[in-house]
Amino acid sequence: MDELVALCKRRGFIFQSNEIYGGLQGSYDYGPLGVELKNNIKSAWWSSMVYENDNIEGLDASILTNPLVLKHSGHESTFSDPMVDCKKCQARWRADQLPDNKCLSCGSTDLTEPRPFNLMFKTNVGPVESEDSFAYLRPETAQQIFTNFKNVVDSSAKSLPFGIAQIGKAFRNEITPRNFIFRVREFEQMELEYFVMPGEDEECHDSWVEKRLDWWEKQGLSRSKVKLYEVPDDELAHYSKRTVDLMYEFPHGLEELEGIANRTDFDLGSHTKNQKDLDLVAKVMENKSSNSKLAIQDLKTNKWVVPFVIEPSAGVDRGVLAILNEAYNIEALDGGKERTVLSLKPHLSPIKAAVIPLKKNNQEIVNLSSKIKNKLQKLNVGRILLENTGNIGKGYRRHDEIGTPVCITVDFESLEDASVTVRDRDTMKQERVAISDLENFLIRKIS
Ligand code: GLY
Repeated sequence: MDELVALCKRRGFIFQSNEIYGGLQGSYDYGPLGVELKNNIKSAWWSSMVYENDNIEGLDASILTNPLVLKHSGHESTFSDPMVDCKKCQARWRADQLPDNKCLSCGSTDLTEPRPFNLMFKTNVGPVESEDSFAYLRPETAQQIFTNFKNVVDSSAKSLPFGIAQIGKAFRNEITPRNFIFRVREFEQMELEYFVMPGEDEECHDSWVEKRLDWWEKQGLSRSKVKLYEVPDDELAHYSKRTVDLMYEFPHGLEELEGIANRTDFDLGSHTKNQKDLDLVAKVMENKSSNSKLAIQDLKTNKWVVPFVIEPSAGVDRGVLAILNEAYNIEALDGGKERTVLSLKPHLSPIKAAVIPLKKNNQEIVNLSSKIKNKLQKLNVGRILLENTGNIGKGYRRHDEIGTPVCITVDFESLEDASVTVRDRDTMKQERVAISDLENFLIRKIS
């Protein structure tokens, strides 16, 4: 973990938030390369959900949430962790994270009884600060999907099964944030709520577990490092009938990367004032009333049903950490040397290709390099960088370390034969490629 944290800072993936003022615990900032990697992960998820499935729609809802939503979702009463205080040094801890019931600061066993600590952040809304004028920062993106259920059904003419996908920030006032970007107070989720007929939920749940395993494998995670964890009944969230966690072998241990829950009709049911009265639901839907009855008509029977929900919910930041961990390698080279290489899947690499002029002061070479960069950038496959440092060896080392799949070197010969030297990150092999073939070459390399 320490090596990864150092690499992230040195190369501009991830920084401690507000570092010049001593930081803000549990918050991190994504730097120039981190934002590219994170966007690439999100975009791979979005494509696999929304673009590859005509029955899944996207959403980008607000973070500020009406407290009533989180009252009826059960979060106000149940979304808490057990907290204890150390009576000796006054430090506060999550009770379930204290090995041997000892304070992690001073080692004392003189602790208070655990008491629930609600994890939701409250913020004041509007100019008057009062108990009645607050909103929550959403603790999961899911609730805004449920509250938009009717809007999406009405506007996109969906029938079961169908899903709503959303990527966005969520906030939890963790008692003890830790392990770099693994447990943070402000984080991003990629959540799908997939609505199915009651009775079809269990089979659908199993199929989403398989699909999500496949997806993480395509992002570069070894199947052997991802374990399935059947969450026991006494650990299930208040809304879940069954949850399967995908656990990844992070540098600090085996921990949850994604949870795939069967949320039944708990949420849509709770947000529907009288979920039993489906005749009333039918009337409300037909009259296009704004009443919040969250049901859908079964096209076979014409009956109104509150669907069950299967929810694959993945942490973006945890995904970044897992993917970086998996890709990070120190390779032995001939002559006792070694290199650090980030073997990212090319579609996730922050920089897709670096164009390196052999001589930084040769205007002709720099101009040709710049033309090549602009031409490749127009492919719109991600960032292409003109790396005009004049030191090829250093350029290769830097781009190995940040996971750039190809480096393209423009030399004196290029001015004569209109071709360039292309170096592959993984094999370090070099080949000559005609400039006119570079676009096809790059597309093949990164797809
Ligand atoms: N929506 C599930 C979770 O945030 O854990």
